[in-house]
Amino acid sequence: MTSELILAIDQGTTNTKALLVDAAGQIRHQASVPNLVNYPQPGWAEQSATALFDGVRQVIAKVLDSAGGATIAGIGISNQRESVLVWNAQTGSPIGPVVVWQCRRSAPKCDALRASGHEDLIAAKTGLALDPLFPAAKIAWLLDNIPGAREQAERGDLRAGTVDSWLLWNLTGGTTHATDHSNAARTQLFNTETLSWDEELCALFEVPVAMLPEVKASETRFGVTAEGATALPAGTPVLAMIGDSHAALFGHGARQPGAVKATYGTGTSLMALTPSRLHSRNGISSTIAWSQKDTIQYALEGNISVSGQAAAFIAELLGLENAAALTALARTVPDSNGVAFVPALVGLGAPYWRSDARGTVTGMSLGTKPAHMARAALEAIAFQVADVYSAMQADMDSELGELRADGGASRNDLLMQFQADILSRPVAAAAAPEVSALGAAALAFSSLGHDLPAVAAAKHFTPQIKASFAQQHRQRWQIAVAQTLAGHPQEHETSGGN
Ligand code: G3P
Repeated sequence: MTSELILAIDQGTTNTKALLVDAAGQIRHQASVPNLVNYPQPGWAEQSATALFDGVRQVIAKVLDSAGGATIAGIGISNQRESVLVWNAQTGSPIGPVVVWQCRRSAPKCDALRASGHEDLIAAKTGLALDPLFPAAKIAWLLDNIPGAREQAERGDLRAGTVDSWLLWNLTGGTTHATDHSNAARTQLFNTETLSWDEELCALFEVPVAMLPEVKASETRFGVTAEGATALPAGTPVLAMIGDSHAALFGHGARQPGAVKATYGTGTSLMALTPSRLHSRNGISSTIAWSQKDTIQYALEGNISVSGQAAAFIAELLGLENAAALTALARTVPDSNGVAFVPALVGLGAPYWRSDARGTVTGMSLGTKPAHMARAALEAIAFQVADVYSAMQADMDSELGELRADGGASRNDLLMQFQADILSRPVAAAAAPEVSALGAAALAFSSLGHDLPAVAAAKHFTPQIKASFAQQHRQRWQIAVAQTLAGHPQEHETSGGN
């Protein structure tokens, strides 16, 4: 086994982490710094691009310090996806903020493209529903709203990129502008069939193609660190870049079609490998999971807007300190006593795509106690995951396997057991918050010819109830969802995707 170490950087929305990972997949050292997200207007979210790279510099310095001069064979980067920025190619200075994935400022542009009938074309080329989540309309917003930006872009003075490409640009001292297939696939400008920036989409979104990074395999030698860019010595190679959700799937060891994972965070991302490029008929995004050498691995992804946040939300309403207190209360009852909570607090994401829907509680009676509500909040997380899981299965025309779980709520045994019960499938909980970083490390090790072991499951949960009983549970939930959707006027419905 090689004695080399990989530096994995996980640049997330709320934290930036660096891990030194050895060839056995063990984390030798790690460091983390929080990131600030600014919300300048309702529905807007942005970050400072320079602060994000400063955070990366800090965590690199910290891990190298604790490692005491260890030699680093290379870097693997996983990153928050869809967040995008524009910078000046000469000075390297950002012309505006990082427009964060959650930000809805580009909604009018998306609405205009929808009104002019381009939604189906966009979905067919990218696998993604037209939505302000994606960078395409965000880049156009920056060019149209920062004085002089569009003229500079037309002159070729500006570069646009997702966070991975911004980090790479800075790590390499402004010499390399590149991204990987997984990040490019989430921009809504990348044609996932031709594997190139799509001229027609760039024209529709009014984004000059020349601003965009070169797209490379996720596992490739992207460039080397420049002298003084970070505490790393000059010449350290960047061996892998990949979006964080994709990295988690890789970290779980998923390599075969049908392998599926769920990352339980504020929201939840389910991703399943597919045998080829599929177009969802059931409200799921189609995307590129990662690429290695000449191999492109496709996937389906469904994003649930509010999952872990649903537990925190109900905890607050019930006057409980946190989600752990909510779980303790939920454990005092055997079931939700018929109560269902549909946490459509910012609308419903996959597979429903109803941004106008709002949260609903059904099935309350005089026998309803706070504990039943607490239980319904946890169950809502699992029911939403089950809905996406079923939609993916329908798209693939085949059974999906064991669900690999990671993220904060994967440590909640009550939730994981209920998840296994209603899916009628086993659930393997990694319970480690670092699966994305470890996935990026695994990809970087792979480029050195070494296979890192998959992140081990901390716990396995097998279904404890009959499939027919699980179906009854899910019918109760489906009725609640139907009531939620019926109770709100429909503004528009997207055809699928994120
Ligand atoms: O799609 C957005 C996602 O990649 C953000 O991930 O870990 O920063 O919440 P995270």
